[in-house]
Amino acid sequence: MKIQNICCIGAGYVGGPTMAVIAQKCPHIKVTVVDINESRIAAWNDDNLNNLPVFEPGLDQVVQDARGRNLFFSTNVDEAINNAEMIFISVNTPTKTYGKGKGMAADLKYIELCARQIARVSKTDKIVVEKSTLPVRTASAIKSILDSTGNDVKFQILSNPEFLAEGTAVDDLLEPDRVLIGGDPTTNEGKKAIDSLVEIYSNWVPREQILTTNVWSSELSKLTANAFLAQRVSSINAMSEICEKTGADVNEVAKAIGMDSRIGPKFLKASVGFGGSCFQKDILNLVYIAKSYGLDEAANYWEQVVIMNNHQKQRFSDNIVSTLYNTVSGKKIAFLGWAFKKDTNDTRESAAIKVADNLLSEQAKISVYDPKVIAERMYADLDYLNSRGSDENRDLLSVHKNPYEACEESHGIAILTEWDEFKDYDWERIYASMKKPAFIFDGRGIMDKNQLENIGFEYYKIGSGE
Ligand code: UDX
Ligand code: UDX
Repeated sequence: MKIQNICCIGAGYVGGPTMAVIAQKCPHIKVTVVDINESRIAAWNDDNLNNLPVFEPGLDQVVQDARGRNLFFSTNVDEAINNAEMIFISVNTPTKTYGKGKGMAADLKYIELCARQIARVSKTDKIVVEKSTLPVRTASAIKSILDSTGNDVKFQILSNPEFLAEGTAVDDLLEPDRVLIGGDPTTNEGKKAIDSLVEIYSNWVPREQILTTNVWSSELSKLTANAFLAQRVSSINAMSEICEKTGADVNEVAKAIGMDSRIGPKFLKASVGFGGSCFQKDILNLVYIAKSYGLDEAANYWEQVVIMNNHQKQRFSDNIVSTLYNTVSGKKIAFLGWAFKKDTNDTRESAAIKVADNLLSEQAKISVYDPKVIAERMYADLDYLNSRGSDENRDLLSVHKNPYEACEESHGIAILTEWDEFKDYDWERIYASMKKPAFIFDGRGIMDKNQLENIGFEYYKIGSGE
């Protein structure tokens, strides 16, 4: 099947950038990204590229190249589905907050709604591509819904997980380590569907980097990749606590082990804890699947990665309280960073949220500066936890557009995101404006200890026992 029209349902962090790059690289294909959220679609269509709903370095340029030419954003989901030969499903699959599997399993409500909508609207044969991260064997559920319409339309289901990391999404899409396509190679139609997606990516990805597997391997590979990546972060974070007690420095340990080519240097940066929409959700999902097959040892093994991550966030806030003479009640603590990593405005599962929540429960006053995250997002993140009323969250936490203002009169500064600009601030000026002794709690290990101690700061870094 020659693909001329693609529809993508879900204009989020994944669907938006992925489709923008496909459209840029395949000018012969019309790509329509649809979403039920009208304001999100309006933002994607905004003339001012600074207002795009997703901040990603380089994304504005890609959107500018393709938008209006062969890239379109719309809320008319039915029409886009009907016109497309290939439909990507890129809606969110959050962890369930109710019922069976609550707190563990992925909520597939939106996926099912999409499948039902596709089944209802389609008048011609379609290839449906799972882009969202899904539990293994979701494809069979989608297939069963699609095949039960009785209107003679044929569907092929592919799994094409995304491996883009936020903050580097455009580069990851332009030069992926690999593209993974899962399908059914045992039938002619299945093979043709796989080939048509391979052909799309071949417009810019070398053929040997496009892997084709069966659907289940593809679905499980995505969960496995995220579980392994998160496990490395939890492993180095576990070492960071041991370093602090033994006088070792976790950055030195990471460098020493990372030079072993069998281990490699990436994903060994100790931190206040991993965040993002995928790691925790995917591991819990994996744990749930393992448990549902009675594989308790495998489930417990992977669950420990999340337990360690929660511990890391907790001990970071505990350390702030104990260092500030066992009470932060009424004390101002400045947060530099709220996003779950630098170069994104995404805050999902960000460590900053939990650290803030813990400190607010100790009656601290928090003043936040983040270069990209807006105040409403921060309040929504806190309100979602339901630890206190939303008025109280607004009373206790203030959001600033200027980092110097956020730090003024504070007892301590906590660095929660590794934004590059933090390193270049006038730290003498910040020191002068703070209460003394002035503390810095570096949850990302990005600052120069000697420089700060020479100014007069008391400096604490994750994973340093000196
Ligand atoms: C999501 C998942 O979190 C991730 O696991 C998956 O791999 C890809 O999809 P992301 O793009 O970051 O990632 O999510 P989000 O930014 O929340 O975007 C999802 C979009 O789907 C939202 O804009 C939402 O409005 C839209 N949506 C959701 C629909 O258009 N229809 C629905 O029925 C449900
Ligand atoms: C991740 C995967 O990398 C990507 O392939 C997948 O498709 C989606 O999930 P993302 O969550 O966007 O991407 O960012 P990532 O760079 O993986 O970082 C996740 C979290 O781990 C961040 O909070 C980051 O700060 C933290 N991290 C990462 C560390 O604390 N230390 C590290 O060494 C690396």
